[in-house]
Amino acid sequence: MSAKPNPAGFSPELTLGISELDAQHEALFAMLGRIDAVSPDMYRQLDDDETDEMLDIMNDLKDSVMQHFSFEENLMDEADYPGLDEQQDAHERFLDDITRVEAELMNGTSVPPVKIHGSLADWFDAHIREMDLPFAKFRKESGK
Ligand SMILES: [Fe+2]
Repeated sequence: MSAKPNPAGFSPELTLGISELDAQHEALFAMLGRIDAVSPDMYRQLDDDETDEMLDIMNDLKDSVMQHFSFEENLMDEADYPGLDEQQDAHERFLDDITRVEAELMNGTSVPPVKIHGSLADWFDAHIREMDLPFAKFRKESGK
């Protein structure tokens, strides 16, 4: 029997009410779902072919995340959001996290995919709740 993953997904509580950002967030969660198909057992270390596939996913994820972050930061800038610097720092740290996962995949010290999926999904979930939702509230209240 193959092990069942239990990753976090996009939940309705994460809706910002800013349609482009919501669509992008949902697409990022869907992209994390590709991790589940890399291996029949999410709890074991990846073999070489699976590692290559995972690196492709990380690469696509990085591209999408970078586009999303710059779109989001632009909206924050336009709204004169005082939390922009903090957001940029958080976004940079997340990109560093992905780079670290890539390095671990390449040097054979990566954790099983269930953990990679879980930690990335947890980051998105917490980031949207703690940092993006307050922005959506600010934007609505300031009418920008
Ligand atoms: Fe953000």
